[in-house]
Amino acid sequence: MEPKTKQFIVIANMKMNVIQDSYLQHYKNLSLTSDNYITVLMPPNPFVITLHNILGEDNVKYLGSQSIFSEKEGSYTGATSIEMIKNYISYVLVGHSERRIFFAENNTDIQKQLRLVLDNNLTPILAVGESSEDKANNKFESVIREQLSILSDVRNSNTLYIAYEPVWAIGTGVVADSKYIEDAAAFILNEVKSINPNLDVSLIYGGSVTENNITDICKILNINGVLVGGASADITKFSNILQKINEAN
Ligand code: PGA
Repeated sequence: MEPKTKQFIVIANMKMNVIQDSYLQHYKNLSLTSDNYITVLMPPNPFVITLHNILGEDNVKYLGSQSIFSEKEGSYTGATSIEMIKNYISYVLVGHSERRIFFAENNTDIQKQLRLVLDNNLTPILAVGESSEDKANNKFESVIREQLSILSDVRNSNTLYIAYEPVWAIGTGVVADSKYIEDAAAFILNEVKSINPNLDVSLIYGGSVTENNITDICKILNINGVLVGGASADITKFSNILQKINEAN
């Protein structure tokens, strides 16, 4: 197993699967960090402040948002601006495929969100990934390259996370195999270097991560974390994943 030089990060993208704020009380008992990992909890936006209050101000470094809108304020019905939640979080996920698909967010929107996150000194997690159709048509490289192109004007030197999430692996129970992820990681890191050589990028994997496959994922070269979707909204499954990460390192 390759030595991991960076702390393994575990993002809990609860999506819209936690629908009672009382359920968040369970996350209070989690070990949010250990020698081997750091956790970032992303509840639905209306519950961000609730979870912040449950965990306390000292733990704001373990909190993130699943999405922000690309404008700061104005007549945008239903949207959450970064101004509203920036004091309660440290990370923001941008470019998740569900935002691209169900909310029609395009690269221009995602680039604006990325700028807002960086301008507010929060840490972005940019999600990229190819669909099964892209994969079948050998479009992996061109699709990923296009999604990464928004990094060209990023000047901020803070760590930026890229979540490699093949769309066909999200919520399907089909996890990409280790070699496939390793090759994708090498391509992404290489591409980022040519787009913007000054960036400090850390790569994570997402897509059907469970307690059954986490041990293998931890061993993949250049993968320094995971984005857990479905399993993060179940406290038992999520705790088991953290436990396995401790055992794997
Ligand atoms: P999943 O979601 O773990 O349910 O596949 C991953 C994701 O949100 O990208």
